[in-house]
Amino acid sequence: MMPAHWYPNLGTPGAVRIALVCPAAMSRAVSIGPTQESPIGTTLERHLLDRQRRMPEATGDFTGLFQQLSLAAKIIGSRVSKAGLSGILGRTGTTNVQGEQVQKLDDFANSVIVSTVEAGGHVCVMGSEEVEEPIQIPLQYPQGKYVLQFDPLDGSGNIDINASIGTIFSIHRRLTPDGEQGTLKDLLQPGSDIVAAGYVIYGSSNMLVYSTGDQVDGFTYDPGVGEFFLSHPKIRMPQRGGIYSINEGNYHKWEEGIRKWVDWIKAPSENKKAYSLRYIGAMVADLHRTLLRGGIFVYPADAKNKQGKLRLLYEASPMAFLVEAAGGTASDGQRRILTIEPEELHQRTPVFMGSPDDVADALRFAGS
Ligand code: AHG
Ligand code: MN
Ligand code: MN
Repeated sequence: MMPAHWYPNLGTPGAVRIALVCPAAMSRAVSIGPTQESPIGTTLERHLLDRQRRMPEATGDFTGLFQQLSLAAKIIGSRVSKAGLSGILGRTGTTNVQGEQVQKLDDFANSVIVSTVEAGGHVCVMGSEEVEEPIQIPLQYPQGKYVLQFDPLDGSGNIDINASIGTIFSIHRRLTPDGEQGTLKDLLQPGSDIVAAGYVIYGSSNMLVYSTGDQVDGFTYDPGVGEFFLSHPKIRMPQRGGIYSINEGNYHKWEEGIRKWVDWIKAPSENKKAYSLRYIGAMVADLHRTLLRGGIFVYPADAKNKQGKLRLLYEASPMAFLVEAAGGTASDGQRRILTIEPEELHQRTPVFMGSPDDVADALRFAGS
């Protein structure tokens, strides 16, 4: 049955509160979602405004940027839910019945984010996985104080099979002087300087999960109301899980340490049960599960991808920021991902992320 706890307050006085305590979740060692108390009908917007009010120096720019991102997420989510239909239209020609260009979903998602955010006046430059160079803000718009990086559509190979996909983003403060157009310098900042990061998952329901570093909160989209509602406040990652997530088809391309770790993690022993394998092929979806249930997600370097496959600025850093804020660990095999100083926009990195004990086990093998 649909949980009622995140539904909006439909006529009930605003002071009424429901305890978001799930007894099944409390009795297990894993975090499976709501365990906190939260006012009924806490939308993403209200959550942001509440936090803004607690910071007297806040100008509203950050909240404004988030409103643009939330709008983009709604537009992309709406298109994703019609992806099959769009695909059919796309195969019949280059224009749809309205005479509009039919775009690939990741190009579409990229354009939606660029056009909603650039006009908001809160950012000075953007970096996108889909765009080779920094995305400048046209001079007719204000050049804002923030810098946005994003992967518009993560796991795009899943679109055609109706499996989960996502959008990943992170926000930094600008380094170049106020008022000017931002540059590459603004984009090449380490994850440790992220102001906020988040993702949207387009799954069995659509969710937006974000953090400003102190906690991680998840909001579920109610399409009937057209709002994201706080459904997963203060997500905490379990210390250890029971799932490993890696593309095991790459086994023969890995270094020996990774092969030994995978052999070990799926073998039962006196001290541990064999772990289950789950791999969706969309980092957002695999890490969303890892955040809620614990376990580990790994994309190591291999013979083909010598620096790893995942992008530092659009995938690894924002996710590392969320994982650490939820109590997990995020490493490239040698160091915290958040401490990597980026040298290129589309730089790649190996990734080991998840429950602290599980990541520690993997790193022990990887270093051997
Ligand atoms: P994207 O669709 O943005 O290019 O990202 C795909 C990424 C990531 O989401 C996923 O974890 C990984 O590629 C899957 O790669 P493999 O198919 O090599 O396992
Ligand atoms: Mn991606
Ligand atoms: Mn992508």
